[in-house]
Amino acid sequence: MLKPLLAAALIALPATAFAADNPAARAFYQYDAIHQPVVSDRGMVSAQEAIAARVGADILRRGGNAVDAAVAVGFALAVTHPQAGNIGGGGFMMIGGSGDDIVAVDFREQAPAAATRDMYLDADGEVDSTRAQFSHLSAGVPGTVAGLLHALETRGTMTRRQVMGPAIRLAQSGFVVTPAFADSIASADSLDADPSSVEYFAGRTAGDRLVQHDLAKTLRRIALKGREGFYTGRTAELIVAEMEAGGGLITADDLASYTVVEREPVIGSYNGYEIAAMPPPSSGGVHLVQMLNILEGYDLAEDGHNSAAYFHKLIESMRRAYADRSRYLGDPDFADVPVEALTERDYADRLRATIDPMQASRSEDILPGAELPRESLNTTHYSVIDSAGLAVSVTYTLNFSWGSGYSVDGAGFLLNNEMDDFSSKPGTPNGYGLIGGAANAIEPRKRPLSSMTPTIVRKNGRVVLATGSPGGSTIITAVLQTVLNTVEWDMNIAEGLHAPRIHHQWLPDRVSVEPGVSPDTLRLLDRMGHSLVRNERGGFATTTLGRVNSVGWDGQYFVGEADSRDPRSLAVGP
Ligand code: GLY
Repeated sequence: MLKPLLAAALIALPATAFAADNPAARAFYQYDAIHQPVVSDRGMVSAQEAIAARVGADILRRGGNAVDAAVAVGFALAVTHPQAGNIGGGGFMMIGGSGDDIVAVDFREQAPAAATRDMYLDADGEVDSTRAQFSHLSAGVPGTVAGLLHALETRGTMTRRQVMGPAIRLAQSGFVVTPAFADSIASADSLDADPSSVEYFAGRTAGDRLVQHDLAKTLRRIALKGREGFYTGRTAELIVAEMEAGGGLITADDLASYTVVEREPVIGSYNGYEIAAMPPPSSGGVHLVQMLNILEGYDLAEDGHNSAAYFHKLIESMRRAYADRSRYLGDPDFADVPVEALTERDYADRLRATIDPMQASRSEDILPGAELPRESLNTTHYSVIDSAGLAVSVTYTLNFSWGSGYSVDGAGFLLNNEMDDFSSKPGTPNGYGLIGGAANAIEPRKRPLSSMTPTIVRKNGRVVLATGSPGGSTIITAVLQTVLNTVEWDMNIAEGLHAPRIHHQWLPDRVSVEPGVSPDTLRLLDRMGHSLVRNERGGFATTTLGRVNSVGWDGQYFVGEADSRDPRSLAVGP
């Protein structure tokens, strides 16, 4: 770790002298900035939970590459951050280094073969949200184990035993519950309906040691047998038994047939930076690039960072992107998703031309729809970079925090409720208030549309930022602002991650704002016609948006920062 040494040596120097003497260091230490990143000369891991972050750093220290470390963190988070880290869910991984092609690994859940378009509609044709969100029926076929093992086998250097050892030991010996983790358990009402979930997690308070014997056994089966340790054999039998007991649809054949897909990332550019982000079935990459294309056409520097004029342009870009999301996005293996058309510069120019620089537009004029607000801080993101500059950016999830609330009895892990990310009734909002179209209707073996946006940003072929966030529908806008803080505002990655964010998603037509945005700025937005959420006293309400974990490289030193919006997060070098 370099940070204390370097900081101590240089703290007395005026910023200008430092910059002139050591231009390479400017990329991460900005002495006129409030936040400084963690710095290392051998790689970096940033994750939402500190024990798992240290597991990744240890793998790097032992000579593993970024993929080895990312796989180890993924399995470790399934133990130490079980409300989102998982083996019972799915997600996306971006892998890319200097000059190499960047690959997008899709291990999103798939609908069981017996799933049907109307499976969550009640007798009146309305969505039964309990069935869609908190039942065995809400679980898609998990993809995480296949995805992590695929990455390890194709691009890792270590054995399963090496990268899974730390997770197995953490499950077997336990770890100490922190106050923040205890709070998450205490607020997880969805666990109460399931005796296995109650046994595995409920009632643990800060200072308790959480030991997970059943999970340790499952992880050992995976370490020993690979994919067969989860998708066939004992673990698969336990999943199928759980489905049969709880009325779920996942069969042995669904598990054995699960496939990982390598996809081409969505590629965009901004001010000479290359932006590579997750393609469909995530909507993240398409709309990240679409919004960056709209915004690059403005002189944002003239507006000033987080000014009302800047936020107005962000909001109007978000409104248009999320309207398109509702109409066009879905699983590309089932629906014709117009990725190129949505990410074309000409299209962004046309959208920009519809934005009045002084006046908010109304979402109902962009596209018709309904509204149902709801927010959740589910999902988890981590980023890794190794000493060769290979970066891995992973967002994976159970959907809601603690998923469906149901665990696989005897196997020790929670089941996702990812089926709710389909449009259960096209045109009707899901648990995040997001509206989907026919492209995201339920079909057997299809993958539900996601907002997860693991992203890699390169300049001159070198990774300068790997980033991403949890936060449901707020993921794409949190990543947008984090990326802009690098490519437009030249912030170091710590500044870029901590700066207050805003969010708009077309419907509901309202702007969510983080603490730290000036009330004067909000009043200006209000006067432009934006709908800002109000608190009971008539003031502007604030909420946190996303938990970003970033790493980067300036060609010499590696930098990382974990989002202080989450008290358990950590960026750490090997
Ligand atoms: N379940 C949240 C997402 O995939 O975006």
